[in-house]
Amino acid sequence: MIVFFNGTFIDKAQATVSVDDRGFLFGDGVYEVFRATEGELFAADRHLRRLARGLAVLELARPAALTDAALLAAARRVLDDNALTRGDALVYLQITRGAAGPRAHQFPPAGTPPTVYLAANAFTPPDDVRARGASVVTTPDERWGRCDIKSIQLLPNVLAKQRAVRADAFEAVFVRDGRITEGASANLFAVLGGTLRTHPADHHILPGITREILLEEAEQLGVAVVETAVTPKDLANAEEVFVTSTSADVMPVVRVDGRPVGGGQPGPVAQRLHTALRALRTRPAPAAALRSP
Ligand code: PDD
Repeated sequence: MIVFFNGTFIDKAQATVSVDDRGFLFGDGVYEVFRATEGELFAADRHLRRLARGLAVLELARPAALTDAALLAAARRVLDDNALTRGDALVYLQITRGAAGPRAHQFPPAGTPPTVYLAANAFTPPDDVRARGASVVTTPDERWGRCDIKSIQLLPNVLAKQRAVRADAFEAVFVRDGRITEGASANLFAVLGGTLRTHPADHHILPGITREILLEEAEQLGVAVVETAVTPKDLANAEEVFVTSTSADVMPVVRVDGRPVGGGQPGPVAQRLHTALRALRTRPAPAAALRSP
């Protein structure tokens, strides 16, 4: 497998990181996950904007050569070189604050080069789970106060996802102060009284690209939307619940903590939004705007 690593394209086995890397020592970095369909990156501009914002908040200066265009070109080359231009693929990008020993919490000396890694893998969307609907479990949201940053520090998400796996569930959803924030790796929506509800894009959730696109699509489809969090009790009474992400797309939820929701079947709003999302993804890119490096 060919990966992009600190400016070069090399075999994955050759891409090794220093034990002094601040990603390894401190979780000091950010990441992105892009979807590619038939070799085309979906919503790359939105992912790059979120990445730039995360880097800015963390005061992590990217190398001058690492422009958005360079990242897109790298992603495309990795997709091409690994023959991932048919079907679906996920592109993973991670940038850490680089390596500088000895270990010290504060930022390393100015000019320490960040570590940049980009890889792609073939991916099969979970359409089988989608057809019957997914189970989720609720779990306390023990994360930090800047969940809006796509930081590589994911320990609470890891523990939550493992709890879901142990319960034979697709996802764990976080509860903070009596409200659902989001899933371990997805945003959450519920339909209540015909209105689509989801947690506002504040510091307690990751502003999902899928979430953002679906809010626009819902408006187009004439579905009423409010960015207000739901409670665990709301979930029990909701007509529909679903979670959304780059990999899960729109995933209907039919069980919460073992109890059926939404009649125990995937619902029509989730179905319509999933169809709309898939249509956007397979539509030819406008004016090849993001194709040329
Ligand atoms: N996860 N919330 C969290 C905590 C996430 O980790 C993700 C994505 C989302 C959905 O964001 P988006 O629609 O931009 O994928 C929401 C990625 C896919 C991951 O960690 O693998």
